[in-house]
Amino acid sequence: MSASLEAEGLHTYYGKSHILHGVSLKVAEGKITALLGRNGAGKTTTLRSLMGLTPAREGRVTIFGADTTRWPPYRIAASGVGYVPEGRRIFANLSVDENLKVPREEKGPWTPERIYALFPRLAERKENRGRQLSGGEQEMLSIGRALLLNPKLLILDEPSQGLAPLIVREVFAIVSRMRDEGISVLLVEQNARMSLEIADFAYVLDDGSIVHSGPASELAADEARVQALAGASAEEWTMG
Ligand SMILES: Nc1ncnc2c1ncn2[C@@H]1O[C@H](COP(=O)(O)OP(=O)(O)O)[C@@H](O)[C@H]1O
Ligand SMILES: [Mg+2]
Repeated sequence: MSASLEAEGLHTYYGKSHILHGVSLKVAEGKITALLGRNGAGKTTTLRSLMGLTPAREGRVTIFGADTTRWPPYRIAASGVGYVPEGRRIFANLSVDENLKVPREEKGPWTPERIYALFPRLAERKENRGRQLSGGEQEMLSIGRALLLNPKLLILDEPSQGLAPLIVREVFAIVSRMRDEGISVLLVEQNARMSLEIADFAYVLDDGSIVHSGPASELAADEARVQALAGASAEEWTMG
């Protein structure tokens, strides 16, 4: 199976702090790959290295067959990678509709009309400003904006963060649909249980190193292991 993205031996630093210690992972084409791990494990740093925002000092990143290790973020995005960063960076003073017009439109199946069909809640709130939206609606808007770039690979950093369980379900159902649309997904999450339900393959990161990799279904069947590796709370496991 071919990989949309492959990282090999990434070492990433913030100044003198050595954060990633040889991270390697693959995102298979048309699949959902979960990257799990407790708070501070290095998940966001991994994504920043993949996107060229905090380039790795050692190691290599290959995306759609090209060596992108030294590419600037805009070039990586333009090659077909949609990135939804942690904390939903939407424009608080722009309306939903204006937020969706910010991305440079790329040719492809995703148009604002299709985004509204996918997220009827956003259609209802078209004229509302970003800051008037709930956390779930902001997450949907962030995902919608990334989709308008018509990415072949979508990278999501903790989309469930701070959302109520029912809304998390809704967001995760959308992520599953992305796979049905043929988009490869790299899903970074602390919510291990729900991620493993929709993912095909899973990695667990701890203290800047990959400590587990395998089929998501295998890990999902071993709650004790997930708790030990990813620090998922018992509450998360029984929720929703
Ligand atoms: N800008 C930064 N400067 C220095 N250290 C940072 C910075 N951002 C994150 N870190 C540290 O890097 C480690 C990994 O952080 P991060 O990648 O955000 O983890 P996660 O996303 O898994 O919660 C943490 O110890 C964090 O304190
Ligand atoms: Mg993070």
